[in-house]
Amino acid sequence: MTNANGAVPSYVLNRDELASTRLTLQHFAMIKWQSWMLHPDIQHALSNTPNPKIADLASGNGIWGIELAEQLPSAEILCTDISDEQFPAPLARPSNTKFEVADLFEPPPQNYVGYYDFVHLRLTVGWLLDRNWRVLLRNVLSMLKPGGWIQWEEVTAAPSKNGTSGPMWLIDSDWTMTRGCLPHMEKTMKSTGMWTAIEWVHTLPEVFKQYGLQDVATFEPKPRSSVLQPQKELLRWFLIEIAETMVKNGRAEAKEQLASDLEEFDNFYKSGKAVTYGWCVALGRKPL
Ligand SMILES: C[S@@+](CC[C@H](N)C(=O)[O-])C[C@H]1O[C@@H](n2cnc3c(N)ncnc32)[C@H](O)[C@@H]1O
Repeated sequence: MTNANGAVPSYVLNRDELASTRLTLQHFAMIKWQSWMLHPDIQHALSNTPNPKIADLASGNGIWGIELAEQLPSAEILCTDISDEQFPAPLARPSNTKFEVADLFEPPPQNYVGYYDFVHLRLTVGWLLDRNWRVLLRNVLSMLKPGGWIQWEEVTAAPSKNGTSGPMWLIDSDWTMTRGCLPHMEKTMKSTGMWTAIEWVHTLPEVFKQYGLQDVATFEPKPRSSVLQPQKELLRWFLIEIAETMVKNGRAEAKEQLASDLEEFDNFYKSGKAVTYGWCVALGRKPL
């Protein structure tokens, strides 16, 4: 799969059926963590919008759009991704959904500009890397109608004492949270360009305002016992896929690194601790 410039876009995770299962589990874990799929302000706005037009961008296997299609049968839901490898089988696509291939770094087709009541993004940090996410945001916002909403759900950085940050937080048995688990894996990921700083996620509300959005809000769910087990499974899988990609990219040492990281990871749990990631939902509305 190439983009308009003929370059092969990089993606550090897999797109096979196990990776798709990861996305499906992740979806249900995140919804449980947030307690809703649509932020209540957006739910309210859409309940007053006949036949709302909704786009789920970088949708992976489309699990978010598929779930929403059942909840909002009168909605028209577009799911796009740069790759169609994980798109569901035709029979698994509700009749009010459609799936298309699109690179979010390219401007949307003219007929999608100003067409949507609501656009949704989730989990982009793993592929945005050091690319300019503001370019993507401009493309995405251009799809909104006046009065249309954006909801962007993302992993946040966990701060540490020495001022660096990474995606993983360690939860101690008394629920105090520190960052700094799996430092070797993080270091290798950074040195291979597979991980970059994600502090920008916390600036999303500010940038939404700079771009003229109104009713900007954020929501950051706190860690919760009932979500920690699926998160453990997801993070473990994530580490395995990342190590596979590193090995494919010539970093054979990632295999051994993975073994010791997984041991370290499992030992956190054996000693009564757990691992989680920070999570933030940012939303805003284009002025009327
Ligand atoms: C971690 S998955 C998240 C999928 C979905 N948003 C979810 O939360 O279940 C990231 C997705 O972004 C897609 N992606 C990567 N680069 C992209 C780009 N430039 N434009 C659109 N999608 C992209 C990948 O193909 C992958 O399906």
